[in-house]
Amino acid sequence: MAKSSDPKTSPPIHIPVLLDEATQLLAPVDGGIYVDGTLGLGGHSEKILQLCSPSGQVIGFEWDANALELATKRLSPFGQRFSAQHRSYSEIMDGLTEMGIQKVDGVLLDLGVSSLQFDNETRGFSFQADGPLDMRMDRRRHSTAEKIINNFSKDDLADIFYYFGEERQARRIASHIVEERKKEYISTTSHLAHIVSSSIPKKFHPRKIHVATKVFQALRIAVNEELDNLTAILDFITKILTPGGRVCIITFHSLEDRLVKWKFRDNSLLEILTKKPVTASDEEIKMNPRSRSAKLRAAYMKG
Ligand SMILES: C[S@@+](CC[C@H](N)C(=O)[O-])C[C@H]1O[C@@H](n2cnc3c(N)ncnc32)[C@H](O)[C@@H]1O
Repeated sequence: MAKSSDPKTSPPIHIPVLLDEATQLLAPVDGGIYVDGTLGLGGHSEKILQLCSPSGQVIGFEWDANALELATKRLSPFGQRFSAQHRSYSEIMDGLTEMGIQKVDGVLLDLGVSSLQFDNETRGFSFQADGPLDMRMDRRRHSTAEKIINNFSKDDLADIFYYFGEERQARRIASHIVEERKKEYISTTSHLAHIVSSSIPKKFHPRKIHVATKVFQALRIAVNEELDNLTAILDFITKILTPGGRVCIITFHSLEDRLVKWKFRDNSLLEILTKKPVTASDEEIKMNPRSRSAKLRAAYMKG
């Protein structure tokens, strides 16, 4: 994860992953209309706006109010060429219709969390700092990690950890959580990380990642319905692309990457541009370790 800078001394930073590769595949041109479905802090959008100048447009969608505000400020020099909406990328069709737009020339998704979210302990995305078990990208939503952990049945918790985290110790961890919450309500990231760690014998702790990594990933996916949102956009993408229009998606774990790969392959209206996913160079990984797990796939609309 790329570290954001100290918020007390400098503005938050999120280093855009595969910036050149993604924007080259999107191939923005003057006059085109592009959607950035995961605006974040606007790093990819800024580059797209530069590449489609002087008259191309970017419409950003972002669930996180804080990120939306920062990106809108950052991209204000582009004037009316940039606009943004506080809604999920799964609602892009509604958002475009409200603007009187039916088709666009490209859609970019850079999935996952931004450094701004990950490094802020009050958001609850990380087990590395203590904070509330929240994990919502959009804080207007009701579901939180805390509600899931304290209310879901043992079987439902195990399914979340197994299917969304590919955690082999899913049942054991779920049992421990259910036992522990009878004694004490679980409301913090450190409490959950401790339960996960203590439920797995030391000899089964993974060497390369923290023992709670998969459980935290699974919860984040469940809280934000990440796979449902991705499935939704992949199912309607050809309805909003012009012929020749491109879709570029950067994923950070295998569940998302597989979904993109299969949905691209099964859509007869799409021509795949990336036989194999594009990954970060050694140089980029060194500069931004978060890029290590990034996979970029792109396709265009046949016309
Ligand atoms: C990896 S960051 C994007 C960073 C961005 N490309 C940049 O360069 O700054 C992912 C962003 O997507 C947002 N996000 C995740 N799921 C979303 C959804 N369903 N709809 C809209 N935004 C979403 C997150 O809040 C986060 O800010």
